[in-house]
Amino acid sequence: MSGRASAAHRAATPAGAPHRGSAPEAFGPGKVILLGEHAVVYGHPALAVPLSLGVTARATPSGRCELSGLPELTAAQRKMLDAAFDAVASATGRPPVRIAVSSTLPVSMGLGSSAALAVAVSRLLLGATGARTSPAKVLALALRMEEAFHGTPSGVDHTVSAHGAPLLYRRPAPGRPGRVRQVRIGARATLVLALVGPRRGTQETVAALRRRAARWPARYGRLFKEMGRLAVEGTAALEAGDLESLGDAMNVNHGLLAAAGVSSPALDTAVDVLRRAGALGAKLTGAGGDGGAVVALFRKAPPAGALEREAFRVLTSGLEPTS
Ligand code: MEV
Repeated sequence: MSGRASAAHRAATPAGAPHRGSAPEAFGPGKVILLGEHAVVYGHPALAVPLSLGVTARATPSGRCELSGLPELTAAQRKMLDAAFDAVASATGRPPVRIAVSSTLPVSMGLGSSAALAVAVSRLLLGATGARTSPAKVLALALRMEEAFHGTPSGVDHTVSAHGAPLLYRRPAPGRPGRVRQVRIGARATLVLALVGPRRGTQETVAALRRRAARWPARYGRLFKEMGRLAVEGTAALEAGDLESLGDAMNVNHGLLAAAGVSSPALDTAVDVLRRAGALGAKLTGAGGDGGAVVALFRKAPPAGALEREAFRVLTSGLEPTS
């Protein structure tokens, strides 16, 4: 992974600009939540940055509106994808294009692969209708696809993917666009992502937490509020280049996520390994549950081979200071 800057370059605006070549092309970057997942579902802010890994979609003329690619998906994932595509194809009047998608993102790891796909596909479908495309239209269509995948997502994943920039995001009232603030990066850093293993669907983990939160609202309300505060404080730290403070906020956030019951022994072990390898902060990222990924903040990338013998795959991504 070469870093956030290249993702921002490829998807600079929510509208994006399909390439002017033989086959129109669109890219949706994946994302990593640094602070505030789960709490964001309850209206608190979350801090997330795009990755350079993502989903590329290419459109060619066809007799009917169809989607191809991603042979790596399981039968259940394929069924869900076909239903989600059908929803957005029908919303755009089924333009006669075949959209071929390919992905460099691991699926079901909490890195926003479904949102990246939703953004890339929505850009191309809207482009194929011939009507003027706007950032708001891309966001609205991608949200429909995300809803088909995840029920009632907060919207943070597809919004960060569509903007292609670090955001402090707050969920909107139903039917309204989310509130976003673009975040500056004040110091160069490296994110290490430990891919701990495939996990249950986001929807299931979010629903189980929702049941606990509904039963003990004051207790869980306090946890979510504190996670949202950490997102705001961590954003200020990132903008000021105070990586130690950001890392500490990530550590505290992981403790709160574990308290909320969305971590697992494997995620906790990965957090511990990365902290012992010198991370300024490490936490689960995305929905968590029984698998997924851990994100760790390093001032400099750990030496090659430092994490080689661990039971997880590792990806790295650079955080480049905003010019
Ligand atoms: C998003 O990647 C993870 C959750 O915050 C769910 C959501 O925001 O919809 C857990």
